[in-house]
Amino acid sequence: MKTPGLPQFDHQPKKYDGPSADEVLRLRRQFLNPGIFLYYKKPLMLVEGKMQYVWDETGKRYLDALGGIVTVSVGHCHPYVVEAAHRQNETLQHSTTIYLHPNISSYAEKLASKMPGELKVCYFVNSGSEANDLALLMARAYTGNYDVIALRNAYHGGNALTMGLTAHRTWKFNVPHSFGVHHSVAPDPYRGIWGRENPDAGKKYAEDIKNLIDYATSGQVAAFIAESIQGVGGCVVFPDGYLKHAYEHVRSAGGVCIADEVQAGFGRTGSHYWGFETQGVIPDIVTMAKGIGNGCPLGAVVTTPKIAAALAQRIHFNTFGGNPVVCAQGKAVLEVIEREKLQENSLKIGSRILAGLDRLKEKHNLIGDVRGKGLLLGIELVKDRKSKEPAKEECAQVLERCRELGLLLGKGGLWGQTIRFSPPMCVNEQDADFLLDVLDLALAEL
Ligand SMILES: Cc1ncc(COP(=O)(O)O)c(C=O)c1O
Repeated sequence: MKTPGLPQFDHQPKKYDGPSADEVLRLRRQFLNPGIFLYYKKPLMLVEGKMQYVWDETGKRYLDALGGIVTVSVGHCHPYVVEAAHRQNETLQHSTTIYLHPNISSYAEKLASKMPGELKVCYFVNSGSEANDLALLMARAYTGNYDVIALRNAYHGGNALTMGLTAHRTWKFNVPHSFGVHHSVAPDPYRGIWGRENPDAGKKYAEDIKNLIDYATSGQVAAFIAESIQGVGGCVVFPDGYLKHAYEHVRSAGGVCIADEVQAGFGRTGSHYWGFETQGVIPDIVTMAKGIGNGCPLGAVVTTPKIAAALAQRIHFNTFGGNPVVCAQGKAVLEVIEREKLQENSLKIGSRILAGLDRLKEKHNLIGDVRGKGLLLGIELVKDRKSKEPAKEECAQVLERCRELGLLLGKGGLWGQTIRFSPPMCVNEQDADFLLDVLDLALAEL
């Protein structure tokens, strides 16, 4: 098989004259917490990025099909976004929310314009974990209830409260963190008990939520939280109707519904701007991070005026939330998504990749399942299609080989058995074909 070549791209990276990757690794091992993990047997050092590509210190280019873990939404160093942040950096870098600044207000207005229904009130924070933590606080303050329903196979963050929501043993420390949190079964059409052939699967999975409310709580709950597509869990797309039925059970027990759009939001699913819209529901609270800022530390909680008012019961403060520079960048990201029709591009290129992955499944038995929407895609690797034994080592090998061939991918799932694709939404058809050719070669060589 011929080695695929990266598509032409007109950008000359700057000559790198900083410390070597070995030296950086040495310093990292000495001065950084070992809990911060690295990908690849020989860790990769990236020193420059432009749109969908990144370069290592030797000048080798890669297609970034993970997008800095679903974060680089509109492209690395997008000139419009860089300019917006630069302009603000030169004018006023920080003030805090105790003073007025035009950026936070105009950004909130713009973000609210993207939201359906009554979801019009924003609170800016610095990360997805913070956003989910705050969303839970609002839900509890608003409802006066405590119990929360989350899903198995979920990832909602790594701080004390969100580690309790996250439901993979790999991310959970053996410390008390899940008091009041109950995990319902993951509505996973590939590994769960009801598959894609069952038209009632969504309703049936949601019945477990009703069951949890009846048997594990007082019958009254504060909230239900779910990613619209489970990202870290391996790009698990829920059966149609699941969230609709889940929301009904939760609301009739007095709870509010939180959609974690940290990965699925901002047009990435292609067909819709928000992931929850693919399930035909409107949540009560939406949390955002990652792609919202294209790489800057920005998160948001957007809710209804009524729920938002619950936070005024006490003083609540976040030093960097709504920082003028970050708000300038966030607003520029929204403008680029609109102007460059990146949602439409996600649909077009995502469909091309999805169709190609389906073809690869015909050819390679290792691929047990192909799934996802737009540019949030995954393939689950299994040693045997019948037993569905996770092909963890093979998944790691494919990632290593793809890296050598100039393609950066992600992995997910409890066992690290699912390859994830979430490139910046500016990728084109040539990138899609390159990705598929490289993957084909890497799978063939196993
Ligand atoms: C769906 C989801 N929610 C929340 C988070 C936590 O975000 P952060 O790492 O910014 O705290 C993540 C991070 O991967 C995520 O994927």
